[in-house]
Amino acid sequence: MQAINVSIGFDRKLWAQDIAGSRAHASMLAAQGIISAEDRTAIDAGLVEIASEIEAGTFEFSDALEDIHTNVEVRLTERIGEAARRLHTARSRNDQVATDFRLFVRGAIDGIQAQVKDLMLALAERAAEHAGSVMPGFTHLQTAQPVTFGHHLLAYVEMLARDAGRLEDARHRLNECPLGAAALAGTSFPIDRFATAATLGFDRPTANSLDSVSDRDFALEFLSALSIMAMHLSRFAEEIVIWCSSPYRLISLSDAFTTGSSIMPQKRNPDAAELARAKTGRIFGSLIGLLTVMKGLPMAYAKDMQEDKEPVFDAIEAISLCLAATAGMTRDMKADTARMAALAGSGFSTATDLADWLVRVLKMPFRDAHHVTGRIVRLAEERGIDISELELAEMQGVEPRITQEIFGVLTVEASVASRTSFGGTAPANVAKAAALWLEKLK
Ligand code: ARG
Repeated sequence: MQAINVSIGFDRKLWAQDIAGSRAHASMLAAQGIISAEDRTAIDAGLVEIASEIEAGTFEFSDALEDIHTNVEVRLTERIGEAARRLHTARSRNDQVATDFRLFVRGAIDGIQAQVKDLMLALAERAAEHAGSVMPGFTHLQTAQPVTFGHHLLAYVEMLARDAGRLEDARHRLNECPLGAAALAGTSFPIDRFATAATLGFDRPTANSLDSVSDRDFALEFLSALSIMAMHLSRFAEEIVIWCSSPYRLISLSDAFTTGSSIMPQKRNPDAAELARAKTGRIFGSLIGLLTVMKGLPMAYAKDMQEDKEPVFDAIEAISLCLAATAGMTRDMKADTARMAALAGSGFSTATDLADWLVRVLKMPFRDAHHVTGRIVRLAEERGIDISELELAEMQGVEPRITQEIFGVLTVEASVASRTSFGGTAPANVAKAAALWLEKLK
């Protein structure tokens, strides 16, 4: 029974929240005349001392005492006697754990938000630096149109901004205090739930005692937000792996974020990126695991819910490592801008610019321009050269109205510079967007 029932091995992580919750509860009980002022003083002093014991590593956690709540309460009784036995008036471990866990997730959100912001800053700084560096833009991982490296990096800033928004939303909904819901039905004591909520930094108490002790949707919402964020980070990690690979060589990472091979001396493996990509699995797993624990649970509390903590702890550790590693790699990566520019011009990446020119200058319908461009691309392909290397006469063989002016739009620089539509990749746009982000983030 003890082996399956015990949670102190992991819920000890909630010690600071548990003590904060108990201190708030005790002072409310005294203010309401439910316990005496002397008992409250003794309880508070005892709890502060227990906090220092835990911090100093001298507190002895006991499996026999099951969880953090009982461990702290029993230790308090050892220290102050009788008064400690009054602390559990008008509460239950059910509302206690729900409160502790909300406080913990709230703190975790704040820590993660700071890391997200740091990563966004790193990306925006590199984007400003590379506002004008052309690189191949891909669809289907096939060269599509040239873009700028800065534009590519800013795409992740936008994703992360939405991730931060989701966490902010989750924090907002989470910030109600279950304390005082007691076991499930509320209490007959004249408690002041608004007071404990305020002391613990919650916006208000939760409104329904059954709901208070029996839902973990705040943890699920947090894990959902982390899952989406991890998905974004894994996409970037995948791109880093691809960009570093020798056939691409668009960027390189220093020894700080790579490892060598034990038998191939030439290798520099992007392990940090690979692990950031892989840790996504744990985070998705945490979400699916907890969703599965919660599905079908009848109200109110059931011990199943004790399984809520480990997946959340694991996901926090994983996302924190991923964010730190990704920010590190973003600052570390060296872009090979010459290689980027060369690849940006390969694969007939300016074919769309040719088609757009036919539309703009010759007033051709876009579908016809697309067809003409396709024939010109085929011509270049047959000759093994780029469309910009074709003779004017060759192009005129396909469409006689094409003039010398066409060569002005076929370079990658001209291509990206022309993409000035709102949100487009033109270096001027990118420089402006990066500056806006930097201003917001600093
Ligand atoms: N360790 C428990 C948990 O994490 C605390 C609540 C226990 N409540 C109970 N009635 N057994 O969920």
